[in-house]
Amino acid sequence: MSNIGIFEFQGKKYEFPVEIGTENEIAIDIKKLRGSTGGIITLDPGFKNTGSCKSKITFLNGEKGILRHRGYAIEDLAKKASFLEVAYLIIFGELPNKKQLEKFENDIKEKSLVDEEIKDILDGFPRSAHPMGVLSALTASLTAFHSHLTDVHSEEEIYSSITRLMGKFPVLAAWAHAKNEGTPLNYADNSLDYIDNLLMMMYKIPTTPYKGNPVIKKAMEELLILHQDHEQNCSTSTVRLVGSSHASLFASISAGVSALWGPLHGGANQAVIEMLEAIKEDGGDVEKFINKAKDKNDPFRLMGFGHRVYKNFDPRALIIKESADAVLAELGVDDPTLEIAKHLEETALKDPYFVEKKLFPNVDFYSGIIYRALGIPVEMFTVMFAIGRLPGWIAQWREMRLNSEPIGRPRQLYIGETKRDYVPMSKR
Ligand code: CMC
Repeated sequence: MSNIGIFEFQGKKYEFPVEIGTENEIAIDIKKLRGSTGGIITLDPGFKNTGSCKSKITFLNGEKGILRHRGYAIEDLAKKASFLEVAYLIIFGELPNKKQLEKFENDIKEKSLVDEEIKDILDGFPRSAHPMGVLSALTASLTAFHSHLTDVHSEEEIYSSITRLMGKFPVLAAWAHAKNEGTPLNYADNSLDYIDNLLMMMYKIPTTPYKGNPVIKKAMEELLILHQDHEQNCSTSTVRLVGSSHASLFASISAGVSALWGPLHGGANQAVIEMLEAIKEDGGDVEKFINKAKDKNDPFRLMGFGHRVYKNFDPRALIIKESADAVLAELGVDDPTLEIAKHLEETALKDPYFVEKKLFPNVDFYSGIIYRALGIPVEMFTVMFAIGRLPGWIAQWREMRLNSEPIGRPRQLYIGETKRDYVPMSKR
């Protein structure tokens, strides 16, 4: 079998190499398309068929519901590894040994202190500011406080940026939350591990001694691991695209946070809870909302359903659904939205509209129910997703840098006016 793709246009044949990935995925390499055909480009809005890079980080098979990081199954990683272990794996390519993990953890802890002047930036936001906007702005502000760390050609400086960002990002997230709550800002405590530290910074208030809860910690760690990477999704592609201009890691990740915020992407976890609440308020008629989602004249979509890549169960959703029952039972939380969610899922999965379009629950469908049971306010759901996704964004940014990928710059098909003469104001 020859690895050549042939494209024929107006009687002429053009040959392009075909590349085959380690999991037998096939890609036609059209790098030379425009040059060899004298200007023909491909048109693929939303990049539904476009591979933007070669990557060794995550393998995803949407038809079979497979997700693996660096070859390891997500089911194993979520149940058996720690958050930082998976982060190390995703960023550097191999599971760390004890010494490597300790060093990574200590380097992150060492960098967790945030410059006091960042509080002045936080002060400028209104108390009602959405924490995703605050997180994005504070992350971008790190470029000003660590401007010496922007040499994107130096592996040493990249490592320093990585540990700095891993250390400070949860602090900034907790501060965004404190801004909404009107509570004092907490600092990281380097005697705690990454997840305990995050939870402490989120929940500790000066009037009450803080005591961690192992059930909450375990559930949070699993959720964050499940979110770590998902190959070239919208926010990750944003991070790679911004980074391709040789912008710093902090600037690139800040853009990723903004991309994640939208309700079609990470913001869906907030939108799901709001939708389930709306169904509850409306009397719990699940069918009514399913019919709304099917109605082409109604912009309403079933939030937490459907995925660009998964045309079968999202493996992360399966794990989260199982955990939701266990976590709610362990914490003694009775949340009626869980029952509504299950009923909604059951009904949608029997409905020909959802079956034919292969729309299944995605990672965001049940995650909000767990976040809420863990005491996380709704506006913070997408921030938690961002904390989980941070290692993936970093890994993808680093891979893009190490591969010396070219600046991202798509083409377009111009469909506007052809040349016309300027019309003076008096004649318009
Ligand atoms: N409810 C109702 N109809 C839907 C839904 C939905 N949730 N999702 C897709 N469809 C329909 C859509 O109307 C279209 O119908 P038709 O072919 O008749 O025009 C068809 O299914 C294909 O949808 P699409 O919008 O072309 O697919 P896409 O790959 O561009 O979009 C998606 C994927 C995730 C944005 C979309 O399914 C969606 O809007 N889902 C709801 C939001 C959501 O849950 N987002 C989280 C995604 S997973 C986590 C993450 O990325 O952060």
